[in-house]
Amino acid sequence: MQLPPDLTRAGVVARERAHVWPPYTSSERHERVDPLVVVGAQGPWLFDADGRRLYDANASWWTCTLGHGHRRLRAALARQSEALMHVAAGGITHAPVALLAEELAAIAPGDLARVHFSDDGSTAVEVAVKAAFQYWQQNGRPRRTRFVALSGAYHGDTLGAASLAALTEFHRVFSPILFDVIRPPALGEAGGWERVFEAAIALLRARPDEIAGVIVEPLIQGAAGMQMYAPELLRALADATRELDTFLIADEVFTGYGRTGAMWACERAGVVPDLLCTAKGFTAGVLPMAATIATPRVYDGFRGGSERALMHGHTFCGNPLGAAVAREVLAIYRDEGVLANVAARAPQLAAAFERLSAIPGVRRVRAMGLVGAAEVGGGGYGGDVGWRVFEAALARGVFLRPLGDVVYVTPALNATDEELAFLLDALEESVRSVMR
Ligand SMILES: Cc1ncc(COP(=O)(O)O)c(C=O)c1O
Repeated sequence: MQLPPDLTRAGVVARERAHVWPPYTSSERHERVDPLVVVGAQGPWLFDADGRRLYDANASWWTCTLGHGHRRLRAALARQSEALMHVAAGGITHAPVALLAEELAAIAPGDLARVHFSDDGSTAVEVAVKAAFQYWQQNGRPRRTRFVALSGAYHGDTLGAASLAALTEFHRVFSPILFDVIRPPALGEAGGWERVFEAAIALLRARPDEIAGVIVEPLIQGAAGMQMYAPELLRALADATRELDTFLIADEVFTGYGRTGAMWACERAGVVPDLLCTAKGFTAGVLPMAATIATPRVYDGFRGGSERALMHGHTFCGNPLGAAVAREVLAIYRDEGVLANVAARAPQLAAAFERLSAIPGVRRVRAMGLVGAAEVGGGGYGGDVGWRVFEAALARGVFLRPLGDVVYVTPALNATDEELAFLLDALEESVRSVMR
């Protein structure tokens, strides 16, 4: 795998610097720091223009659950492209989307069975929030206009999703144009997850007439730095939403598709939300596609004249290529025992992180399913110790992009014993080299 013969690495970087506006990167930094130029990827490996092979330790922002270039996904994409690549969803359907919806309904928790397709995690969240809001507007509770979201939450970067999120580093500048959300105190301020959930439930009980829904990242807050909490806490919150008859929205964009060990993190807590958002692993990182899955009750709230229809749609809703790939992802999960592999590999990952906790300066080590995280400094998202570990890992053949001072791994869920051992050994050596 290499660049086309008429192109050098420097040539790619020069053009990207001249014309690309990359995410989360200041224009000044963009001009100063060279990006990695990737020319191909296979399995857990990225190949760069300098001929290096690097382990993709975060599975490309948590999406490539089946590694890169899975043979069956490439074949499914090629097959579908022969028949139908795109058609608008207005008044038209096709087999890939109908079959995918049926398959999702079969594996979604509880009675979740109605699928709205969209493009990415943020839009899956927008759809859930708009559906919950509109439901109450047209079903007799119009005062229910507010949402409860946890501090530290991340639900995406579009304005609705950003309103629900509470990561100040990402969204502070937009606060004047975000909608107001009810939040329990942050984890540090509250003094533990139990308190956070107690406060969230108290807020719900105090104003049930105003609250359209509660949104959570089940069991792990990803972008907040892989913050993990106990399933019982999610269950208690879900019970409160049931009791008060308001909606629970599970944002499984990161936690879904086996990341925590079960297909859905909600299952680990025995919780059935009213709306569930999925993206990332949904197409295993092949195409941008997402889904919001609702219960029959929610869907039934949109019966009646056209003014009662869910007022949301995207040009690429239910794109056939994405749907064909998403179906193949589910087939691979079944045929290749992906969840069983997570169960087999999780103790290996947890043991490696346990070893990290013995290194002086390493704090708050945690692991669940195929997620492991450790704090290597006190600087939070703005910290630079995590970036020093990143450099040390790069030299050992691992792309280990941190969340500031949180160093973490979220490898492909079909990683073999040997592949994972390589990653975890390199991680340990890198952390040790920096913390000396
Ligand atoms: C829990 C969660 N929700 C939503 C999103 C937004 O997804 P996207 O970046 O695909 O819009 C993310 C992205 O990291 C996420 O982690």
